[in-house]
Amino acid sequence: MIKYLGSKRTLVPVLSKLAEASGAKTSLDLFTGTTRVAQAFKNLGQHVTATDLASYSYVFSKTWIELDALAQNQNDLNDALAYLNSVPGQPGYFTKSFCEDARYFQPKNGEKVDAIRNRIEAEFKDSWMYFPLLTSLILAADRVDSTTGIQMAFLKQWSSRSNTNLIMKDPGLLPGLGTAVQGDVIELASQLGSVDLAYLDPPYNQHRYFANYHVWETLVRWDSPESYGIANKRIDVRDEGTKSAFNSKKTMASSLAKVVEDLKCETMILSYNNESWLSRDELFALVEPKGKVQILDFDFKRYVGAQIGVYNKLGKKVGEPGHARNIEHIVLAGPKATVDRMSAAILG
Ligand SMILES: C[S@@+](CC[C@H](N)C(=O)[O-])C[C@H]1O[C@@H](n2cnc3c(N)ncnc32)[C@H](O)[C@@H]1O
Repeated sequence: MIKYLGSKRTLVPVLSKLAEASGAKTSLDLFTGTTRVAQAFKNLGQHVTATDLASYSYVFSKTWIELDALAQNQNDLNDALAYLNSVPGQPGYFTKSFCEDARYFQPKNGEKVDAIRNRIEAEFKDSWMYFPLLTSLILAADRVDSTTGIQMAFLKQWSSRSNTNLIMKDPGLLPGLGTAVQGDVIELASQLGSVDLAYLDPPYNQHRYFANYHVWETLVRWDSPESYGIANKRIDVRDEGTKSAFNSKKTMASSLAKVVEDLKCETMILSYNNESWLSRDELFALVEPKGKVQILDFDFKRYVGAQIGVYNKLGKKVGEPGHARNIEHIVLAGPKATVDRMSAAILG
């Protein structure tokens, strides 16, 4: 999985337990990013719909959420990966922009990306393998990058992993069915149909994913955009149209409220962070119309199964949180019996 800000890597086991205890058969992962939460829900046998603004996230959803591993020929994918790995590098837009003008990757790997990406477009555009191959190429590039995990800057000295040769690997398709949707959740929420469970993991602050992961956006769009600055960001990073209402303090709360109101779901799980713009009371008020509310708190840095603070519906603390640094809130809202079952699955 790629390095991704706000990725729920450490919380997946908890979210998975919650989703299982909810008894949901259908679910939504609304800000799916890497899709790792949607994947966990799919692994429970749920029909998942995964949505996000980002093009690279759509590629991941098409690969891991929409495709059914049992309905595809894995040998064909293995053959395609072996073939693309054997393609000699050839410098192009990617090498010039991201290895020479900016230094996110070593030129030898940028040349491979250029050559492989061109072949994927020319030879696999109409194949079911198109999205898995793009996913594999992004993961391969991420493994040999020279950043700290965001593409606003690159390291002064090449990272040691950037010396490694880029190699595409099997992304590992999952059995089951799902749906991938690209778009703004503010517009999508009312159109997504009803589901048993919705998971919401909005951005926490002003840092925009479109700017932070502009290289993946370009690798997917393959549109050779004009760029600017030392980080060589896409020129449309500056456009209003690529901004998200969730990255602005002014519009974040009202946007989230609208999404919560528009969604047709029985039960909701909302991830939030104590370093963000919404207070605990605001979170409560936002989801209260859904039914019973319970907030679970986790220390994101220390967390591996350690639940450190629990609040009841009145916001009264019923568990000790220890030293609070970077706390992930998991807000549950829905029918009382379901929320009780879900919290019991975590609290015992
Ligand atoms: C905190 S991250 C989600 C991380 C994800 N749960 C994971 O584990 O990888 C927030 C995501 O929201 C997406 N996003 C931001 N604004 C959005 C909008 N208006 N509509 C849909 N997605 C949006 C970003 O592209 C980003 O992937």
